[in-house]
Amino acid sequence: MSLLRQPLLMLSRSGAIKNVVSTMPVSSGIVHSYVPGETTQAAVDATAGLVADGLTVTLDFLGEDTLDRARADATAAAYVELLEALAARDLAGSAEVSVKLSAVGQMLPGEGERVALEHARTICRAASNAGTTVTLDMEDHTTTDSTLGILRELRQDFPETGAVLQAYLHRTEADCRALAQEGSRVRLCKGAYNEPEEVAYQDKVDVDRSYVRCLKVLLGGPGYPMIATHDPRMIEIATSLVGSLGREQGTYEFQMLYGIRPEEQKRLAENGETVRVYVPYGQEWYGYLMRRLAERPQNLSFFLKSLVSKK
Ligand code: FDA
Repeated sequence: MSLLRQPLLMLSRSGAIKNVVSTMPVSSGIVHSYVPGETTQAAVDATAGLVADGLTVTLDFLGEDTLDRARADATAAAYVELLEALAARDLAGSAEVSVKLSAVGQMLPGEGERVALEHARTICRAASNAGTTVTLDMEDHTTTDSTLGILRELRQDFPETGAVLQAYLHRTEADCRALAQEGSRVRLCKGAYNEPEEVAYQDKVDVDRSYVRCLKVLLGGPGYPMIATHDPRMIEIATSLVGSLGREQGTYEFQMLYGIRPEEQKRLAENGETVRVYVPYGQEWYGYLMRRLAERPQNLSFFLKSLVSKK
């Protein structure tokens, strides 16, 4: 793993640095390359553009780790507004939403899980009314059990609700086995947080090996795997597993982040694959941007130039 990954991930949770960086406008080069805009309108417009290119979308209203009840309520309301706007533009058949439970109250002292579940239910209901689905993003490992517990509750009423599992966690192969059931939607990613060695593989090669083991479990099972990676090797291995297991296109999908390897997104879609682009929008882009920089520290100089010029 890169030497810069850990410091950047620590910065992603630093309030002081956040205050300086967050004064950059969303239109500044580096932010805009990962986040198309701040408003519902901008998110819907970006979705329409991707769908016109043959892609599908999952939208994330940015925000996380809130300790403010009013903010959690506002986030849930923003998702409902977004889902109504997608339906009104006839985009809900191609676009779903991704929700971070910590943005809708999971960390609120005492009542966190109850509030997050309530808000997640409201969002699932709005998604179902619009004709689409919700996927629960996965955050750091201290939230994994709580998030999977809330997923189980939600799936009783909204069985199409998707989960995310992170290959860097030691536990994830077992979680894949538990979730690879008929009707389940599971996004497999490598994992984006700063995790200790007690719970997570630290070396890229070990994370990649775990990713492949998990892929075998998910693609070998009856659920709907969502293969979230930009890694050319992982995509090649997934494609070859799909072939050897005889899985048909449309019984799984590839997922990538907005602005990362867009040509590869189009290439896969042109080959008949379902490709879903994760589109984050809103003002709270700081933590998201820092995790993207940690994955690709080559972008750091681009980022620092944007910060100095505030453009
Ligand atoms: P890896 O980081 O090894 O990169 C492989 C290659 O991809 C690089 O060599 C480069 O070519 C390209 N690349 C990667 N990052 C880039 C960047 N920032 N800019 C330009 N090129 C880049 N994580 C999590 O913990 N919880 C979650 O819920 C999610 N959700 C999620 C949804 C979707 C749709 C995706 C694609 C990813 C996530 N992630 C996530 C993030 C994920 O865990 C992981 O951090 C990133 O996807 C980077 O890992 P890769 O698999 O791309 O491989």
